[in-house]
Amino acid sequence: MHVIVTGGSSGIGLAIAKLYAARGNRISLLARDPRRLEAARAEIASLPDIDGSQIRTVSVDVSSSAQTAEAVELCEASFGPCDILIASAGIVEPQAFDAMPASVFEEQIAINLLGTANAVRAVYKSMKSRRNGRIMMISSGAALIGIFGYSAYCASKSGLVGFAEALGAEADAVGVRVSICFPPDTLTPQYRREMSLRPREAEMLMGSVKPWSADAVAARIVDGLDRGKARVHFGFSLPMLAYFGPLIKPPLSWWISRKTKKIFGYEADSRLADAADQRFDDDK
Ligand SMILES: NC(=O)c1ccc[n+]([C@@H]2O[C@H](COP(=O)([O-])OP(=O)(O)OC[C@H]3O[C@@H](n4cnc5c(N)ncnc54)[C@H](OP(=O)(O)O)[C@@H]3O)[C@@H](O)[C@H]2O)c1
Repeated sequence: MHVIVTGGSSGIGLAIAKLYAARGNRISLLARDPRRLEAARAEIASLPDIDGSQIRTVSVDVSSSAQTAEAVELCEASFGPCDILIASAGIVEPQAFDAMPASVFEEQIAINLLGTANAVRAVYKSMKSRRNGRIMMISSGAALIGIFGYSAYCASKSGLVGFAEALGAEADAVGVRVSICFPPDTLTPQYRREMSLRPREAEMLMGSVKPWSADAVAARIVDGLDRGKARVHFGFSLPMLAYFGPLIKPPLSWWISRKTKKIFGYEADSRLADAADQRFDDDK
């Protein structure tokens, strides 16, 4: 099989590529930085029983649909049509919305949401004509609940939920399986950078959760694909949010909102609001 992994030079994408390479598949890694791509290729090739000639890399920015189509064409010319697409390329730039330049907001949408659509577009027609193919979109737990400082990231990752659902409705009938997964915090270069940028308010609200390893996240994603799952979840609280969101989110959002106000030093306002609520209740 030919497996194409966008964002395959690092983190979750690289860990998934290793698993498929270990099964003897042909692997194409797509990302921007050619040096990181070459390092990833060499890392996979150095694993036991891996044929290095079955791994190729293409430097591409997935936010460009033309570049992505061209990159996929090159990979398919070498390794045949894509059987599995892993759309893992992504970035996160946590920052309060009013402090975030428009370009930073737009870049997250362009790479995480539109970049995924570009990669899917590049493989989908051929999958459809062969009535065969699997697509895994790497979303995030941040798709399931809004987080302080993550307005662009949450928008991009929850946008993928609608995209996967709608595309799945089209693809199912033609033999293409579309899946989406919602990884938790995962120890990768992106996560380390994110931690250094995460706003203090988000830090205080979210607390410190021990991140998963990229290998563990990758193993669950590949297992989900093997089982033909449409959605892959991790841990306990994220699936709860996914399945019972309408029940859980109102009280959770109320609690988060109170905590945020306190963090901002608006305790007085919140006490006034409580008093107003009390007066309102008394008047009823
Ligand atoms: N780590 C977490 O805690 C976590 C949690 C939930 C979801 N996720 C999601 O999982 C995916 C992988 O994240 P990760 O933590 O493994 O990050 P990572 O280690 O930073 O890897 C990101 C990969 O995406 C590539 N990439 C970024 N922008 C690109 C672009 N415009 N075009 C092509 N490739 C691009 C990067 O290479 P170049 O920079 O060289 O292009 C790199 O290969 C992302 O979509 C992320 O949002 C991560």
